[in-house]
Amino acid sequence: MPNQTLWGHPKGLYILFFTEMWERFSYYGMRAIFILYLTAKTTEANAGLGWDKVSALELYGWYTMMVYVMSVPGGLLADRWLGQKKAVMLGGFLLCIGHFILAFDEVWAFYTGIVFIILGVGALKPNISSMVGGLYQYGDLKRDSAFTIFYIGINIGAFAAPLLVGYVGEVINWHYGFGLAGIGMALGQIVYLWGQKYLTTVGNFVPAQRDSGTNKKVPLTSIEKDRMIVLILSFIIVIVFWGAYEQAGGLMNLYARDKIDRVMFGFEVPTSFLQALHAFYVILLGVPVAYFWTKWRKKGRESSSLFKMGIGTIITGFGFLLLAGAAIETASSLDGKASIYWMFGAYLLHVVGELSISPVALSFITKLAPLKYASLMMGAYFMVSGVGNKVAGYVGEAAQSAGELTIFMGVLIFCVSFGLLLVLFVKKLKKLTHGADDIDPKVVIVEAE
Ligand code: PHE
Repeated sequence: MPNQTLWGHPKGLYILFFTEMWERFSYYGMRAIFILYLTAKTTEANAGLGWDKVSALELYGWYTMMVYVMSVPGGLLADRWLGQKKAVMLGGFLLCIGHFILAFDEVWAFYTGIVFIILGVGALKPNISSMVGGLYQYGDLKRDSAFTIFYIGINIGAFAAPLLVGYVGEVINWHYGFGLAGIGMALGQIVYLWGQKYLTTVGNFVPAQRDSGTNKKVPLTSIEKDRMIVLILSFIIVIVFWGAYEQAGGLMNLYARDKIDRVMFGFEVPTSFLQALHAFYVILLGVPVAYFWTKWRKKGRESSSLFKMGIGTIITGFGFLLLAGAAIETASSLDGKASIYWMFGAYLLHVVGELSISPVALSFITKLAPLKYASLMMGAYFMVSGVGNKVAGYVGEAAQSAGELTIFMGVLIFCVSFGLLLVLFVKKLKKLTHGADDIDPKVVIVEAE
């Protein structure tokens, strides 16, 4: 059974695909209405908690940071005690409980629910990603396409969720929305339980081998020190990028609700629907952007990871130019609202940035770190993404006193200058990698075996 394949991939891949698709459905569905629920007035027909925007953005920042920071203990839990497969199972159960608790219309239920979700994502997300890799032998070329398929699953879930959970939550009742996210997660858990028969060879607990030699303190060589510097720099890029991009569910969500004219073809688009745009663009542009960079490299142009990340940061920054345009229109228009097309354009640029940064950063980090730290680095990558989410929260909070236009312009200037610096110094920085970026990671792994 575990060796059965379908369309050239082990069947287990499809089990992981649908499990993660539903998990992301629940996560992004709940996230799309999180801030709208907190800030909705208590007197509205669909009553929220009536929080002010600053407090809501603060909690939102902590929440979106913690889900990813918990990936580090989540990974450890799998490595030391449970194995990835059981850790995913546990995470899934915690998520089902968390989302269903949110369906209760009580403040205690809200806090309890999000704690369960933080623990659940922490146990599930890093380990399910590692299991995808575990289905393939090292060096198997199908491994890369498996991750692409898996990433599409993530984004199908992330696309459908704001439309379904968003509609039910925002238009009918917040708690029905949270409940629907819970039903999605339960479906994911059912798929995972049913699919265990296709996962017998992957994600099992392997007691750590004690290798006496490698545990000794080894002084870092000068090459490793140089690489460490670039590694830290790439972490900073990741924080800057998510700090800008993840305005989406917080500040930009509130902005779309209050200051964007959402009527299209006579129909008022619910605010949360705009949260589906990221995933929509990722599905649409994932292949073209990857193709562009491959062509670019074949033409012999500068195509190092740092260069792509620099360009990605600049493009993301320009998304904020469009948002600044919206803020200017808001200030001058009679009804105080700007066209929805600004948002469509801004999210588009953000996703072009994402596709030049996120996958590149992950593989860059794993290439620079010594092989034995590979899973630790996966955890570190999730953790810094989490920190970026918190930064996004702070930026949103700042906008409440500084005004949106100032903040959008500030993010634009910061991202563009930061990206330009990277591009300008790319040759110098590349030297510090000592060739690590030029090597195909598969070759490194095969060599190391
Ligand atoms: N869309 C991605 C996902 O949900 C965003 C992400 C990237 C999250 C990196 C965490 C770390 O998987």
